[in-house]
Amino acid sequence: MPERKRVTLPSLFKKVADNQPITMLTCYDYPTAHFQEQAGIDMILVGDSLGMTMLGYESTLPVTMEDMIRHTQAVRRGSPNAWLIGDMPYMSYQPSVETAIRNAGRFMAEASCDAIKLEGGAEMADRMAGIVRAGIPAMGHLGLTPQSVSALGGFRVQGKGAQQAWKIIQDARSLEEAGAFAILLEMVPDRLCKLITERAKTCFIISLGSGLHAQGQLLIYHDAFGLYPRFKPRMAKVFANAGQLIQDGLVEYVKEVTERTFPRPENWFGMPDEEYEELLKLLD
Ligand code: KIV
Repeated sequence: MPERKRVTLPSLFKKVADNQPITMLTCYDYPTAHFQEQAGIDMILVGDSLGMTMLGYESTLPVTMEDMIRHTQAVRRGSPNAWLIGDMPYMSYQPSVETAIRNAGRFMAEASCDAIKLEGGAEMADRMAGIVRAGIPAMGHLGLTPQSVSALGGFRVQGKGAQQAWKIIQDARSLEEAGAFAILLEMVPDRLCKLITERAKTCFIISLGSGLHAQGQLLIYHDAFGLYPRFKPRMAKVFANAGQLIQDGLVEYVKEVTERTFPRPENWFGMPDEEYEELLKLLD
């Protein structure tokens, strides 16, 4: 595969200007980052969804900055060229603007991120503005925001009603004015996504389960490759069922070890006869 150029903010905006969709996936580990790099993914999000997909929690709330930094470092090692976004975990930015800037700075300094993402609308615009003023590119996240799942009443579509949709449009405007380079719309109706995309002037819109009208698409890697055992959300398409492949391989491994058909001579290492004879003498 030819050497890939590093993705930059200007190269992302050029894609938008050229009307070419931006590709984005979540990623949490080194080997997967390597595969995504080879596939030419534009933007990688190390989402705090790793709490559910990688650590088995019921929600994203227990995820810490230390969890995020460790996984983001691994992803950067596997993907030196994608535009890498660290997801600010629960309570790493909500308490104050200063907390938000400090933790965003950790993503940049300790994990070589290109940008960070945070959830929330107008109420988080001052955090967004502070981070951007500190020279850190920042992405917003509206619609279904998993850190507020309790307040939202569960993992469900947001903005189906006119009042709520109007509020999401105002929130998108606040984030754009605060300097967001992009906004993720998660699980809002496609018509609402279209209205927000048409109104965005200085930022671009990424859709997760919000239709085709945005300038780019995001999926959770584990949903797209059959790797999350608890459920498959409707918005996700399974592009390859890696989970099933691994499950079949594991059953085969257990069978072959149990039947002693693995390992075979090509899987172990021999010892020259004379060395072996000498060893036996040493043991006598
Ligand atoms: O944590 C994450 O992966 C996210 C997605 C749900 C967008 O924020």
